[in-house]
Amino acid sequence: MTITEAIKQVRARSDQQLAETTRRPSMFIQTFGCQMNVRESEKLHGLLLEMGYSLSPSEKEADLVVYNTCSVRESAENKVFGKLGYLKAYKAEQPGKIIVLCGCMPQRESVMEEIRRHHSHIDIIFGTYNKHHFPQLLFEHLTHGQPVVELLNEHSQIPEEAFDGQTTRFSPHKAGVTIMHGCDNFCAYCIVPAVRGRERSRPSQDILTEIEALAADGVREVMLLGQNVNSYGRGLSESISFADLLVKINAISEIRRIRFMTSHPKDLSDDLISAIRDSEKVCKHIHLPMQAGSTQVLERMNRGYTKEGYLQLVDRLRAKLPNIAITTDIIVGFPGETEANFEDTLDAAQRANFAGAFTFLYSPREGTPAADFDDEISKEIADARFRRLLDIMNPMQLEYNRQYINKVVEVMTDGKADSSGTGRFTGRTGDNLLVHFESAIEVKPGDCVMVEITECKTFYMKGRVV
Ligand code: 5AD
Ligand code: SF4
Repeated sequence: MTITEAIKQVRARSDQQLAETTRRPSMFIQTFGCQMNVRESEKLHGLLLEMGYSLSPSEKEADLVVYNTCSVRESAENKVFGKLGYLKAYKAEQPGKIIVLCGCMPQRESVMEEIRRHHSHIDIIFGTYNKHHFPQLLFEHLTHGQPVVELLNEHSQIPEEAFDGQTTRFSPHKAGVTIMHGCDNFCAYCIVPAVRGRERSRPSQDILTEIEALAADGVREVMLLGQNVNSYGRGLSESISFADLLVKINAISEIRRIRFMTSHPKDLSDDLISAIRDSEKVCKHIHLPMQAGSTQVLERMNRGYTKEGYLQLVDRLRAKLPNIAITTDIIVGFPGETEANFEDTLDAAQRANFAGAFTFLYSPREGTPAADFDDEISKEIADARFRRLLDIMNPMQLEYNRQYINKVVEVMTDGKADSSGTGRFTGRTGDNLLVHFESAIEVKPGDCVMVEITECKTFYMKGRVV
């Protein structure tokens, strides 16, 4: 059965339910993890709307609950297992409730074992390679009432194209655009290559067509998504780099801002730095995960660069783009991390002078090389280092934000700050800082306004439209 036929069949059932009970079946989708998952949830949401589902405010009331899951850290998986436990009770009261688990978690055999043992109440399971089969899987379940599991180990087709036309967006003026799937870097701690497979770039024309359609539909900011956007183009029959792609997207007239995530430090070319500088719509912000500042730890992480190499790259970026905001990811407590190694991380972070950082406690993931390292750090030591890192990173971020005090910056509006109907709005600067601002005139999501910054905090700024 084709996706279109499955959508039609499920839609007919929903319409029938509407006629008989005066209400459509309702859905609730919860997303865990990265922007790529958020984007894929938008697509699942769009498919469900097409299939005649309405929105439910909570998983308790919904007729169909989707958990689009993440496996990057154990805490994200535990949250989902906790939620599945609650749903068991709800399902006992509401037997027709449909529970869907998808994304990264079911790609892991250890998760599936746990599900077989304790969560037989899940109705539909699929992974990262076949999210576009959702309509067929839902139809199958509705027809037979039996649990449906479809897990693949690789893509038969890159799903964006199969999803086309069925996408909704959670935000009217901003959209994520997946430019590549998977990852070939095999960092020793990371489960992503195991759950999302080998790196594959989408043909540039497909990406440009998607962005042109988004622009025509009111989108003003795109976030280009990939595990390692710097290696975009590898393996395609056309000859194109990420720098070339940025230049082409920069030429799409309605788009005002271009962001991208994530860049691997080992693949950041000078051409790309020049393309960021010369493409006026590309935000002068780069997320450049350092992960650790110790060469010894970086080597054991299989990151492909040294402490000095990373810091030289930061210098290279700032030589061409003096005001670029550099944000990062740092993992604390990697196996074998000594006090001296950790101090190297603090030192590198200070020298890089980041605009912001996501900091993580190392979480062993079964199936990755690091999970077999036998020199784990105790929780006490890791926790203490984590707090010490935050004590450096938070003031660093505040210091970065403070450069804007009494200055005027361009802010793209995301919407009203609250529902009180007053003139308070929120938005983001080009370097992605959150700004709460007052405006005497009404501004709409996607509008860019000039805001004078009056107050700087660690995680946001305040200002007024000038
Ligand atoms: N433990 C802790 N953090 C991790 N990350 C990836 N894998 C792990 C892990 N096993 C972090 C990295 C990555 C971010 C998305 O998540 O810092 O850049
Ligand atoms: Fe989580 Fe990584 Fe999967 Fe994204 S790709 S959902 S961060 S495991």
